[in-house]
Amino acid sequence: MLLRLLTPLIRAVLRLPIVARQRWQWARDEVDVAPGSFVARTAVLGKRVRVTVPAYIDPCEIGPYSIIGRVVIRSANHYTEYLNIQEMAQRKVIGGKTMLKPMQRPIRIGAGCWVGDNVTILEGVEIGDGAIVGAGSVVTKSVPAYAVAVGNPARVIRHRYPEEIVELLEPVDWWSWSDEKLRANKDLFELDLANVDPEVLRKRLAELD
Ligand SMILES: CC(C)(COP(=O)(O)OP(=O)(O)OC[C@H]1O[C@@H](n2cnc3c(N)ncnc32)[C@H](O)[C@@H]1OP(=O)(O)O)[C@@H](O)C(=O)NCCC(=O)NCCS
Repeated sequence: MLLRLLTPLIRAVLRLPIVARQRWQWARDEVDVAPGSFVARTAVLGKRVRVTVPAYIDPCEIGPYSIIGRVVIRSANHYTEYLNIQEMAQRKVIGGKTMLKPMQRPIRIGAGCWVGDNVTILEGVEIGDGAIVGAGSVVTKSVPAYAVAVGNPARVIRHRYPEEIVELLEPVDWWSWSDEKLRANKDLFELDLANVDPEVLRKRLAELD
């Protein structure tokens, strides 16, 4: 009985250094997580990620400058073949085999993405850089870079830019630039990339150091 009462406390104390390291990284990288969110200790949130409303985030990677709404990012799956599904009952009462499947592939959200409100992202999904996931979607399969995906299950409804522009953008990792470099290239962020002449963009990108 006493052990049962003390276990959560012991766990919390053991977690402290890991949580402290994560919070320190958030402060350094200006990561903004809405109060009331759950973020797994091993989730890695990139520079200036914004979780705008309370979210549930299991272990995953979220790239820099992404906007995350009221999401549920779930990397856990239970075995479905056995009589009991619940891990707690299995561990504490029945014993034997765990009901939690080992994670096959981590969830990865790229840089500069926008994941809308009430989105659920399931195990193994990769969301490419610059992609958008519309409100209320359930993402069961990976979404390519700069695509817009919506619905349950989420499907790509369009691409933000023409294919040629997406190809030109592939090597452009603006999210790892210094603030000075971002400011110095302000005009690039004011280009309408959905309608720009690819030659204009090609020339402009060639000027980048
Ligand atoms: C996806 C989104 C960005 C709009 O994308 P868009 O390409 O401009 O889409 P459109 O509004 O032109 O709609 C295109 C089609 O997709 C459908 N659609 C748009 N968003 C949808 C969504 N979230 N779920 C299901 N269908 C959606 C539209 O009904 C439309 O269908 P139709 O062609 O049959 O008429 C927007 O709808 C959205 O979901 N935004 C997220 C809002 C949010 O959560 N904000 C929180 C702030 S972090």
